[in-house]
Amino acid sequence: MHQQFNPKNKDLQVWVGDQLYHRDEAKVSVFDSLVQGGDGVWEGIRIYDGKIFSLDKHLNRMQESAHALHFEKVPTKEEIKKAIFTTLKANEMKDGVHIRLSLSRGIKYTSGMDPRLNDQGPLLIVLAEWKAPVYDKKITLSSCHIRRNGPQFLDSKIHHNNLLNNILAKIQSNFAGTDEAVMLDERGFLSETNATNIFMVKNGVLLTPFAHNCLPGITREIVMGLADKIGIPAKEKDISLTEFYNADEAFTTGTMGELSRVIEIDGRVVKDKSNLKIKEKLDAAFYEMIKVTGEPLPF
Ligand SMILES: Cc1ncc(COP(=O)(O)O)c(C=O)c1O
Repeated sequence: MHQQFNPKNKDLQVWVGDQLYHRDEAKVSVFDSLVQGGDGVWEGIRIYDGKIFSLDKHLNRMQESAHALHFEKVPTKEEIKKAIFTTLKANEMKDGVHIRLSLSRGIKYTSGMDPRLNDQGPLLIVLAEWKAPVYDKKITLSSCHIRRNGPQFLDSKIHHNNLLNNILAKIQSNFAGTDEAVMLDERGFLSETNATNIFMVKNGVLLTPFAHNCLPGITREIVMGLADKIGIPAKEKDISLTEFYNADEAFTTGTMGELSRVIEIDGRVVKDKSNLKIKEKLDAAFYEMIKVTGEPLPF
């Protein structure tokens, strides 16, 4: 999976701060906290057929991440929604769109780490692009030696822009020639991939790692809820690589790629031995949910 440039995105209008700019003019200051220290929070959000999927959940997570990082003057949900709607309208976007929503701690009056150097409040960026789900629905994984951060280092519950932990893992997966890296926790159990949450099925039971060292993904939460609704037993569990290699089915979840079937882990082929087709059932329930929920665009 190596994303390519989509010519439809050539003339995007991007929201930065308090107005729209052509993508070539959309810039942040060299004094911005994102440049200075990756000091920002972000969300990936999808638009389907005139509606924004799980918008409130994404905005809640963004605001909670900003609160944990002690951002001051965080924009209200209404203000963020207005910026999103304005951006989508300017780009005439209603479907097949992915938004990278970022909130920086903002501009500093001089370079440095100290948040007391920030006197202008946070900076909001709404980058909406034409982007279909990025995986080809069948992906390969490889494990890597970079451990996913737990609460004792940098809590994975904060959806921050300080992504080097995950980027190092992704570099390792690129060298291994796989789509994503499986990141373990400090005890050697699965946490997530560098960009998505992990699920496996064994003997008819849907399993996912505890959220101790992974982002508590919104798609992950939705999939657990859908499993409950359609009668698939599901639980969180410490999962070792050996257990993962022997999964009956495995898949990843995330806004960027929805549910993506894992076909190989460290060279071990994953075949649906049980033929229970649990991933297919969850896919059907997920697409039905996309159809019937979401925040309608006001234009
Ligand atoms: C590290 C990581 N894990 C999982 C996810 C999936 O989360 P969600 O389902 O909320 O998109 C993301 C998405 O940004 C992520 O960055």
